[in-house]
Formats: sequence, C-alpha cells, structure tokens
Amino acid sequence: MQTTSYVIEQQLQHRSVRKFLETPVPDAQLEAIIGAAQRASTSSSLQVWSVIAVRDADRKQRIADALGGFAYISTAPVFLVWVADFARNAHIIESQGGDPENPRFIENTLIGALDSGIAAEKALLAAESLGLGGVYVGGVRNNPAAISAELGLPKHVFPLVGMSIGTPDPTEGTCLKPRLPLGGVLHHERYDADAWRDAVPQHEVDYREYYEGQGVPDRSWSRTVKGRLGTLKGMHGRHTMRDSLRAQGFDAE
Ligand SMILES: Cc1cc2nc3c(=O)[nH]c(=O)nc-3n(C[C@H](O)[C@H](O)[C@H](O)COP(=O)(O)O)c2cc1C
Repeated sequence: MQTTSYVIEQQLQHRSVRKFLETPVPDAQLEAIIGAAQRASTSSSLQVWSVIAVRDADRKQRIADALGGFAYISTAPVFLVWVADFARNAHIIESQGGDPENPRFIENTLIGALDSGIAAEKALLAAESLGLGGVYVGGVRNNPAAISAELGLPKHVFPLVGMSIGTPDPTEGTCLKPRLPLGGVLHHERYDADAWRDAVPQHEVDYREYYEGQGVPDRSWSRTVKGRLGTLKGMHGRHTMRDSLRAQGFDAE
C-alpha cells in the first residue's frame, strides 16, 4: 500500500516564503505554473477565475502601500492577484441574448472563491516543485477598491487573494509551521464535536515551540485565534466585505 509520493513529499515541505532573491521568474516558468493551475477541477467547467501577474516595480509598490506596506509584495519578483471572474461568462450569456444572473447568487460567489482558491493552491504547489516559494496575501481584501482600481478590474471581477512568488532567500530561516494534530481535523463517518479537545493543547505546545525557535517568545495559538476571529480589529477592515463585493457587481444578499 503506497502512502507517499513525490507530490505528497512536496506538499509536506510547504512553508510560506516572504523573503525573495532578486532572481526573476521568467515568463516560461510563470506560464508553466498557471498552466498547471488551469488543470485544477472547476465547478461545472465554468472556469470562473483569472489571475493578474504584476511585475512592474511601481505597481507592486502601490499595491503594497495600499494594503499596509508589506515588503513581501514589493520585493517579490512577481505578485499574482487571483480574482473571481464572472465577466467572461457574463459576456457569453449576453452574446446569446441572456441576462447574466451569475454573480447575483451567493452560491456563485462561493464557486468563484472555491475555484480560485483551488487553482491558486495548485499554482503554489507547482511553483514550489520548481524550487520557487511564495505566500498568499489575503491582505488584498483589506482594500479591494484600491486593488480593483489599480488592476482595472471590471464589473463581475473581484480580487480574492494575492500571491507573492519568487526564489526563496535562504536567510529568511523559517521552518515548517506546525498544524493541528490530524485527529483534530479528520473525522470518520460523522462529525466528532470533541475531536479537537486533545488536539488543541498539543497544537498550543507545538505552536509555542515553533515561534520560540524563530526567536519569538510567548506566542499562543489560542490567543491568535481570539485576536483574529474574536475581535472586530482582527477583521483588518474586512467586515465591510459585503459592500466591497457589491461594488464589483457581486450583489448577493
Ligand atoms: C487565504 C490565505 C491568505 C493569507 N494571507 C496572508 C497575508 O496577507 N500575509 C501573510 O503574511 N501571510 C498570509 N497567509 C499565509 C499564512 O499566514 C500561512 O499560510 C500560515 O501562517 C501557515 O504558515 P505556512 O504557510 O508557512 O505553513 C495567507 C494564507 C492563506 C491561505
């Protein structure tokens, strides 16, 4: 019985990379990465995503500034912005005399987010398999209006997540960040509401040790969860997402 493969080994090596060498990511590599992402499964073959590759230094800097000044955007050789894209399909429907209702329903917003996320992860894995590294940047949703204006996103296109890609700078020195023990997330047959009870204390220990190893003492996963999900401040301004979606034509209630 096979329980490992080169793909699984690659996945188990994932760590976010936020510090890059100046080595460019050539078009041929970018196209290989996005081509691999395009093979991802896609709901009903709708292919409701696009990705914008930003290399221009001034544009990367403006994007970084609009989101809070993150150097891992401005210093990445390429910054990808993954967008839910219903504009293509809206045109296809209109060209047949139809009324593009697509983004009006929350189900289709979910499809846009799911398909984009699945493709984005395939792209990151492909990049990692080529010796590159990267980090997702949910921070694009801190300021969807600025990103939409900077990238010229039309109606029915929404920026979901960014991704800095490049050659990892070995001086960054991050290690694999721990995850919850498997028993905390893998349920059999029916949802086990207590599955996490043993997993969380163990993860608390692992998480603390990881950050101590990174020179950051007294980091707590439970406190991180509370700060991110238990306070309005933790939303980083994204509590107005419904308005941001509506501004791009995703007007589901
Ligand atoms: C959808 C998504 C959005 C993210 N946004 C950010 C971000 O804005 N800034 C950042 O530094 N890391 C971001 N990350 C990376 C996570 O912080 C990282 O994956 C997590 O801490 C686990 O670390 P690892 O990827 O090194 O294992 C994001 C990850 C995901 C999946």
